[in-house]
Amino acid sequence: MYIPEEKIAQILNTSDIVDIISQNVILKKSGSNFFGLCPFHSEKTPSFSVNINKQIYYCFGCGAGGNVLNFLKRYHGITFPEAAKMLARKHNITIETKEIDPAKRKQLKLKESLFRLNKTTMEYYYSQLKNSNSGKIAARYLKQRKISDDIINEFHLGFSHDSWDSVVKEFKKLKVSEGVAAQSGLVLERKQNNGYYDRFRNRIMFPIFDINMQVAGFGGRVMDDAMPKYMNSPETLVYSKSRILYGLHAAKQFCRQEDFVYIVEGYFDFLSLYQHGIKNCVASLGTALTHEHIRILKGYASKMILVFDSDAAGISAAKRSIKIFMREGVDIKILVLPEKSDPDSYVVEHGQKAFNALALKAKTIMQFLLQVSIDTHGSSVEGRIKILNDMKPYLITIQDTALRSLYIKELAETLNIDENAVLEKVREQYLHTQESISKPYLFDGTKDEVRLDSDRREEQMISMVLNFPEIIDKINKTGVLEYFYSKKLKFIGKKIIGIDSDKKAFITNVMATMENSEDQQLIASLSMDDSFMDQDIQQTALSLINRIIRVRKKEENTLTSKIISAEKGCDSELMELLKEKQAEIQQLQ
Ligand code: UTP
Ligand code: MN
Repeated sequence: MYIPEEKIAQILNTSDIVDIISQNVILKKSGSNFFGLCPFHSEKTPSFSVNINKQIYYCFGCGAGGNVLNFLKRYHGITFPEAAKMLARKHNITIETKEIDPAKRKQLKLKESLFRLNKTTMEYYYSQLKNSNSGKIAARYLKQRKISDDIINEFHLGFSHDSWDSVVKEFKKLKVSEGVAAQSGLVLERKQNNGYYDRFRNRIMFPIFDINMQVAGFGGRVMDDAMPKYMNSPETLVYSKSRILYGLHAAKQFCRQEDFVYIVEGYFDFLSLYQHGIKNCVASLGTALTHEHIRILKGYASKMILVFDSDAAGISAAKRSIKIFMREGVDIKILVLPEKSDPDSYVVEHGQKAFNALALKAKTIMQFLLQVSIDTHGSSVEGRIKILNDMKPYLITIQDTALRSLYIKELAETLNIDENAVLEKVREQYLHTQESISKPYLFDGTKDEVRLDSDRREEQMISMVLNFPEIIDKINKTGVLEYFYSKKLKFIGKKIIGIDSDKKAFITNVMATMENSEDQQLIASLSMDDSFMDQDIQQTALSLINRIIRVRKKEENTLTSKIISAEKGCDSELMELLKEKQAEIQQLQ
């Protein structure tokens, strides 16, 4: 069912969010917001806020946020159209459904077909595991890996035959159209253009569910030492690696109950923990965690434990994720497992109790980073100075000043260095990065910080336009969105500037055009930023715009000139690297 946008706007304009939410949550007024206990995570002090002017809710604890429809949807576990109908009934608004525009309809149809095809294929793989002759090898493999039948059934594991056309034949039988088949990523086009072949062959199949329990994609593992060990669906209309966390569809209720979640890397890690009763768990599937992953998880738990193997790869993966967590202000700990074990092997060998006991020893970010640094540099005087240098870049990414000073204190005590000296060092580093923001990043490990700064500026820009739509004109004239690094923020920005800036219901209107709840959540969180309230907004906007454009242009110019001089100096290796970097930047646009 499709409800026209104007109708949604009418429903939103007629209803009052405080009115609706206070039917379910006890709200108390404080300043321009109402506060109450968040219904989406367990808490003792109210961090759930409702803003009557912006007509949005936002929980500072768990990050849940959105407009009134999003609230109803989440609170009652209903779909968006159902929530809209519910409100419409309340306000005696009649909804006559309208024809959806053809391009959008086509896209929706395709998505539906892909979900349906994935589901059918999941059932096919599952039945091959259960009933086919060659499926027995797969069943034996799973047994050897100590995966129970209950888990196989609940997560619908399956088996793909050692064949080039099992799935292709199934698709033919089902009369699946070629377009849908190709876009599902389940089959690949043959080189000579004569038909298709199966992507997954002779593998244990793991369907990957999205949060609505729809099958978004698959992972497949070989049953011997063949390479690649795992193969995953490519990005499709319904599968996006940067958003999906394996197991969340099943784990979400447990994450909410416990208000904390284990983040592991692999399919088997997740399944084994779940099977051993540690159900508040998700797997990142070996890809780097993204802001989106964290924001999604924040909706279910406020505390997180990252579990990593103790090998070098595990440690460096943990380090990579840390800055993202610090940036998102999440209470996160890191659990490095004893040598040669991963969560799967550990829990299979030692059981649930031992795992939980180990988890109590998870380290804070600072403890973890310090330990890694101490292991590298030792604790001599020179060693400790090096450690301090290692830690500086992390310390300056902490936004919360109180938290930062706590960390600084902890660091000073551990290193037995005067706290003021540490502070001084950190300040130096801070000034240094402020300067280097306008310098391009190049293979020296500063990339992350520069990107973090650009993210922050771009988020500020979006916060600003949400709160002060009168700057849309400036955004349009300068074309600043074209200079954004973040595709997501650029996309959202473009939607925002296309909306009528009639001020009162602006955020409501913006919210109504966002299709998925994560985008709505992002909008809610960005609109809560009132930090530039007291400034001359046109002036502040202009300097932020200039800054964004200047940084981006400078980075590109510097790259170009470096490429030219590398060409002159015949440094072909450097040239290649630079060109790659340039391509990467251009791709971002
Ligand atoms: P690991 O190599 O740590 O494997 O990859 P694992 O999960 O312990 O797997 P088992 O126990 O040997 O079966 C961690 C995760 O990284 C992704 C997978 O999601 C895997 O679970 N991965 C790994 C890939 O996508 N491709 C690969 O080739 C390897
Ligand atoms: Mn493993």
